[in-house]
Amino acid sequence: MGAEESSVRPKPRHIAIIMDGNGRWAESRGLPRAEGHRRGVEAVRLAVEGAIEQGIPHLTLFSFSSENWSRPAAEISALMGLLKRFIRRDLAELHRNGVRIRIIGERTGVEEDVVLLLEEAEQLTRANTRLELTVAFNYGARAEIARAAAKLAGQVRAGEIEPGDITEERFAAALDTGGTPDPDLLIRTSGEQRLSNFLLWQLAYAELVFTDVLWPDFDRDHLASAITTYQSRERRFGGLSARSSA
Ligand code: IPE
Ligand code: IPE
Ligand code: MG
Repeated sequence: MGAEESSVRPKPRHIAIIMDGNGRWAESRGLPRAEGHRRGVEAVRLAVEGAIEQGIPHLTLFSFSSENWSRPAAEISALMGLLKRFIRRDLAELHRNGVRIRIIGERTGVEEDVVLLLEEAEQLTRANTRLELTVAFNYGARAEIARAAAKLAGQVRAGEIEPGDITEERFAAALDTGGTPDPDLLIRTSGEQRLSNFLLWQLAYAELVFTDVLWPDFDRDHLASAITTYQSRERRFGGLSARSSA
């Protein structure tokens, strides 16, 4: 390996994606929004395959936010239908490909049959190690942080820990994402540049990559290009750049 090659920065270990722009993709074609969501599922398949091909061990996808309940009932029902169909159709293949599925977010308020499918997906794939696929469903970061605080408060009340035991590490472990490393790279499609209540704690030092590509058009090449952009960034974590500290 030449000097130049060995100096390439490592790929992200964990990529998180805000899959946005399904509705605009459909509307720009005169199609119903649900058609954009249906095409968005195809892009999910490509992203999972792309992550496996690139050797990325952790992928987190924002599939439905706790704020998305404010959309029209017909759109919500189309999204729930797509999620159910996706799990029914793709679970066996994801399992064969060594994907471990993890669902984060709030389960109360979600239809019983959806919850059962989510649990089945987690149970079946729990021993897989090739790719950990975290799906954020009925997820909101502030609610997740409040749930973690409540959990730790309960442990204090039960006398299991002292208030002073609540370190950053213990707090992170109490989040829905406990045990998974923080995302190194956050991608948001469709040109929007905001976090929309996604992984507020975990993204503290993530590199942010925004692309105008609408989610249904996002393919392996777009994923590869976001990874290359990530590798061109210098992560300093509050320190000095390699150049100035030399
Ligand atoms: C993302 O696409 C999918 C979900 C939020 C469920 P949108 O439905 O938000 O698409 P736009 O932003 O309206 O184009
Ligand atoms: C964020 O997208 C949620 C998901 C991608 C699931 P939204 O389209 O709901 O976000 P806002 O409303 O534009 O902030
Ligand atoms: Mg949107």
